[in-house]
Amino acid sequence: MLARVLSCAVIGLDGELVEVEVDIARGEPKMFLVGLPDAAVQESKERVRSAIKNSGLTWPFNQRIIVNLAPADLRKEGPAYDLPIAIGMLLATGQVVADISDAAFIGELALTGDVRPVRGTLPMVALAKDRGLKRIFVPTANAGEAALVEGVNVHPVGTLKELAAHLLGALPIAPMRTPPPSAPPPGPQVTDFSEIMGQEHVKRALEVAAAGGHNLVMRGPPGSGKTLLARALPSILPPMTPDEAMEVTRIYSVAGLLASGAGLVTTRPFRAPHHTISNAGLVGGGSTPRPGEITLANRGILFLDELPEFDPRVLEVLRQPLEDRIVTISRAKHSVTFPANFALVGALNPCPCGYYNDPSRDCVCPPQVVSRYQRRISGPLLDRIDLFVDVPRVEYEKLASGVRAEPSIAVAERVAQAREVQHARFAASGAGPSRLNAEMNPQQVREHVQEILDPAASDLLRLAVKQLDLSARAFHRLLKLARTIADLGRHDRVGQAHVAEAIQYRERVE
Ligand SMILES: Nc1ncnc2c1ncn2[C@@H]1O[C@H](COP(=O)(O)OP(=O)(O)OP(=O)(O)O)[C@@H](O)[C@H]1O
Ligand SMILES: [Mg+2]
Repeated sequence: MLARVLSCAVIGLDGELVEVEVDIARGEPKMFLVGLPDAAVQESKERVRSAIKNSGLTWPFNQRIIVNLAPADLRKEGPAYDLPIAIGMLLATGQVVADISDAAFIGELALTGDVRPVRGTLPMVALAKDRGLKRIFVPTANAGEAALVEGVNVHPVGTLKELAAHLLGALPIAPMRTPPPSAPPPGPQVTDFSEIMGQEHVKRALEVAAAGGHNLVMRGPPGSGKTLLARALPSILPPMTPDEAMEVTRIYSVAGLLASGAGLVTTRPFRAPHHTISNAGLVGGGSTPRPGEITLANRGILFLDELPEFDPRVLEVLRQPLEDRIVTISRAKHSVTFPANFALVGALNPCPCGYYNDPSRDCVCPPQVVSRYQRRISGPLLDRIDLFVDVPRVEYEKLASGVRAEPSIAVAERVAQAREVQHARFAASGAGPSRLNAEMNPQQVREHVQEILDPAASDLLRLAVKQLDLSARAFHRLLKLARTIADLGRHDRVGQAHVAEAIQYRERVE
């Protein structure tokens, strides 16, 4: 007998329909799995056999079983086909009789028959719904994300036995009705600005970076609070829009990083990969490409602590995504594109010992070691950093004063207002998809900054370009930054004070 069961695959961040055919006939007692399956799918034979037996159901001995996965040119990966294969077996052997033409099945099976979570449930369910299917059976642990897709019945499945009973009408599994709980933040706990004493100029730089979507690097001695300050940045970013939240949840679903039962991710990502990270870990990779840290940081922050410790070749691969805000991973058969729209925050010590230029402690590094250390970060990468801030150690008086600084919520409000000004400006000028000042192209910089400069600001700029010997890119960076500073102060025109502050954030090489 032949049975057909629908399931789904994931390519990049998108679902794809897969048809599982199970054919059982007399012949040599053997099971074949065809249709470009990878090793994990091959192992499915053993899992399905054990799961069926341990669920009190019957395995067809002395029969020839062929399982075909279609379309044949799509590489099938992972264990998510266990459940549809098992259901196909039960249908083909007549142990389950049901019309499942409007349903899809996703899930890995444990040998006991328990259904285990799989990656990418959210995009798979979204695809199934788009294709007009009415019912989706998913692992219980993935039901939260699945239920984010409206207009389709999501049935959480705990065990194969339960599913068989449901299909036979013996013990129906109710579809999820309650809205799924939102997922906890994917990163570490966020610090509030009010918990950080002193460092007003660094907080100001973080505020500017948050308002305009600018990349920022902090430099200072050990223990000065660089890591602490970076961790506070998400607390002043505006909440994600519903579309952004959906996009981020989809990414975490495909990466398999959603907690069991979790629904929508509502907190902006904060990713802080270790400096030993590989190329593939950072930008994504694998035979079926998976998102890397830059995609996991999409709509949020990518924090690279101890920047000079990263392999320069690994940092080098950031150049393109920083420019394009997407990353394309090419494979022989297909290539996938992941979003990578993040703000880069870096931290570094001024030298290996950490005390170069420190007012109270002597640096023990020879001068050539200091300059070599600073040169470990390549020019092209530094050229994409808009703000450089020095983070000195806080004086004891400030640490001990107990005066609470401005809370993040107050800063976040200014950031949100400045962002609204930018959205309105770019929408009104119809100038492409740019949404934040950092994303302006040269033509937009001309229109929104250069053409409406104060004469005094113009003079200062001319002087700065001459005296500081700025490159064209550095010049544009300065203008974008000045635009954000003006927006934070709610000024239409970019004035001298805005340009002056922007100049302060340039890189100073020792
Ligand atoms: N301005 C501050 N206000 C309150 N606590 C601070 C401040 N600066 C530092 N600290 C405290 O010092 C600890 C160390 O700070 P942090 O780890 O951020 O330093 P760092 O600059 O990243 O150092 P390293 O260069 O060694 O990584 C923090 O966890 C915090 O408890
Ligand atoms: Mg640190």
